[in-house]
Amino acid sequence: MMLPTLSSILASMSLAAAATSFGTIVHFPPSKTKIGDLKAVFNRASGTNGGYYTTSVVPDDDYGAYDYCNMPHARAREYVVPEGYDLQYVELIHRHHKRTPYASNTFPYEDISLYCDDVKTFYYGNPKNGVSVTNIWWKNYQDPSNPMTYYKSGFNSTCQFPQISYAGLEDSAQHGRDLWSVYGDKLKFLPKTFDPTTMRFRVTSNEITSQVAGALVRAMYPNLDEVNVWQQLGSADSLQPGYSCPFADSIRGDYQDTDEWYEHLDMSKDVFSQLDQISGVDPTDDGWHSWFDHYFDNLSSRLCHQLPLPCKISNSSDCISERLAEQVFRLGDYEYNYIFRQATNSTLYSAARYGAFITELMSHLTGKVAGIESNIYRHNIAHDGSISPLLGALQINTLRWPGMGSEVIFELWRKEFSHEYAVRVLYGGMPLVTNTPMGTLDMVPFEDFIAYLESLVGKNGELVYQYCTSS
Ligand SMILES: *[C@@H]1O[C@H](CO)[C@@H](O)[C@H](O)[C@H]1NC(C)=O
Ligand SMILES: *[C@@H]1O[C@H](CO)[C@@H](O)[C@H](O)[C@H]1NC(C)=O
Ligand SMILES: *[C@@H]1O[C@H](CO)[C@@H](O)[C@H](O)[C@H]1NC(C)=O
Ligand SMILES: *[C@@H]1O[C@H](CO)[C@@H](O)[C@H](O)[C@H]1NC(C)=O
Repeated sequence: MMLPTLSSILASMSLAAAATSFGTIVHFPPSKTKIGDLKAVFNRASGTNGGYYTTSVVPDDDYGAYDYCNMPHARAREYVVPEGYDLQYVELIHRHHKRTPYASNTFPYEDISLYCDDVKTFYYGNPKNGVSVTNIWWKNYQDPSNPMTYYKSGFNSTCQFPQISYAGLEDSAQHGRDLWSVYGDKLKFLPKTFDPTTMRFRVTSNEITSQVAGALVRAMYPNLDEVNVWQQLGSADSLQPGYSCPFADSIRGDYQDTDEWYEHLDMSKDVFSQLDQISGVDPTDDGWHSWFDHYFDNLSSRLCHQLPLPCKISNSSDCISERLAEQVFRLGDYEYNYIFRQATNSTLYSAARYGAFITELMSHLTGKVAGIESNIYRHNIAHDGSISPLLGALQINTLRWPGMGSEVIFELWRKEFSHEYAVRVLYGGMPLVTNTPMGTLDMVPFEDFIAYLESLVGKNGELVYQYCTSS
């Protein structure tokens, strides 16, 4: 049997049309679609790029459709079991579920209040062999006599920004049930009783990932009252990611300081001015106007919770229209595709920015094949800032903003009666389509997949270390 070597993969990669390389990292442009086409982005009649922005519920016959509020994930109904293979290892990563916006994405004036009194968030330290403690939960409130409180502008919220909403916890539980329907009921791969020696749940330091874990783990293991979720030290965390990488930041800064990037912002002057007038956002505030991230987050989290689009504080019939919101969503997709796929250096950026996680993944997979990895299941709960560079590094064919719950699953399969291994990568429950020579990541020979990852991060991640520690 001929196994492709790293060099033959790389040779075929650099021969491929339109590829650009930096060292061993080769960029393959994304497929041409309306998502990256400014004419379509600015065509008012375009609607959204398809899918849903106002509900977590997608009809069964539309499974797989983009739903910003609750992205598709693997579940038994549609899951395809490869024939002639045994599952060896699963590593899964997904974005947290729907939430309130981040504080930085809330408008200066308020036309509605958000209530989170229907959820208790717990946080406390419990000494292993010491004093006993009371379970502590956080009650959020605004004191009207506090001169600095948002309440002054009418903002009377009992939510933290961000916080997983009641409905977001329901989605988290459904996500857990669906995963169990595949890896528990269907494949009988996971043990009936949670086994901490072969399974790990992992979160970031952002508490919303732990909020999701609580509902999700319980849905998978209804009798499990307590479980530790793993969390790396913030300054080196590969999952968020939390490690510093000035090289990556400067590369991204460079390609977001080009005519190509500014073109869509120039074309957006009118869109911004309509949004600013209603929201009261300062038109000179760079955070709100250097990209559509803030407006996107605020508008989408309203719609996902069936709240109305914002209206002017001084005139409740002057509101952001559905058309304007759709324009913001098209622009959001455009920006994500540009930042993580279209820009020539986006692969280099993603490889450096998310290379630590990719290196860990590589070591889990190779460890399993070598027989030295005892875990069979790793479950990581993360952010859009984690999923995007991961998909960027894998060179997904086009990238839309990875919505709430966006899930990437790496499955390692062994061919029956052999030592041949294959990798399947599912995004939104379906094999991930890439622009790399591997094409669709559906039972890719293990060696090819590892060779590709190694082209991004080097052996044992030495490239990532080199890039991120260079000055
Ligand atoms: C958007 O910003 C406003 C203003 O601060 C905030 O009140 C609102 O709650 C935000 N969005 C959502 C979904 O609440
Ligand atoms: C603000 O919220 C609190 C707690 O929900 C409520 O008791 C109070 O009446 C609200 N005040 C206003 C002015 O809406
Ligand atoms: C309020 O907004 C509506 C819709 O834009 C507009 O027709 C109306 O004249 C505005 N009212 C005032 C008092 O500005
Ligand atoms: C990509 O980044 C590298 C490293 O900074 C730089 O040398 C190269 O010119 C960049 N490529 C493009 C197309 O900007």
